[in-house]
Amino acid sequence: MNKRAIGMFDSGCGGLTVLKEYMKLMPNEDFIYFGDTAHLPYGDKSPEKIIEYCEEIVKFLITKDVKMIIIACGTASATAYEYLKEKYDIEIRNIITPTAQILEDKSIGVIATKATIKSNAWEKAIHSFNPNANITSIACPLFVPIIEECLIENEGTPYFIKEYISKLNIESTKISSIVLGCTHYPLLKDQIQEEVGFQVQLIDIGEISAKDTLKYLNANNLQNNSDHVGTIELFASDDFESFKENAKKMGFKI
Ligand code: DGL
Repeated sequence: MNKRAIGMFDSGCGGLTVLKEYMKLMPNEDFIYFGDTAHLPYGDKSPEKIIEYCEEIVKFLITKDVKMIIIACGTASATAYEYLKEKYDIEIRNIITPTAQILEDKSIGVIATKATIKSNAWEKAIHSFNPNANITSIACPLFVPIIEECLIENEGTPYFIKEYISKLNIESTKISSIVLGCTHYPLLKDQIQEEVGFQVQLIDIGEISAKDTLKYLNANNLQNNSDHVGTIELFASDDFESFKENAKKMGFKI
């Protein structure tokens, strides 16, 4: 047993989709979540900058004495994970590997931020487990601002979803699963599903990460006491009020 909290971070509210999945599966755990709203979006930044921002967050979470750190951000997982894992002793987990290791489809779509797509992190990770997979990846740079600006329900949003999804050429590529490779994207899941049709499976990387971490906690006897009622503590590097508003809209009681 280990009563310390689990640290988690993202550039903004996207990682809260991951936190939700963790809270469902691990109701006894305490979580400390950091949204780097001062530097959002990460998706159009260079890997060097993203590493610099993430390193500050990791140092902050370490001062909070967390037992492990979950990178609840596809972009940071794709660009900063290797560096952070090498440099810090604490267990740091990325959000890409758990999904990559279970994808068995022949033809897979990946949608994510520009920085993630440019890194080829998803191709490398999927091919290391499923070498023959055909992968079509596209960047959807407008999705994060749409979400952070609370425009999910805006009448213009389906137009941009259609634009990006059309680039996957689902008919000809015969894609059977699409990885929502950015943790903000589950917030657009219903609209994306409507656009791609129900024969295509949308993969929620937060849900898969939560299952994987639960296994890890159990295997290493790191779970909190089963009588404990888990808590969450939220931090943001800027405009905590807007961040809190987004969190409330996502169903967090704060
Ligand atoms: N939620 C992020 C991700 O998973 C953030 C993207 C961004 O800040 O551009 O990639």
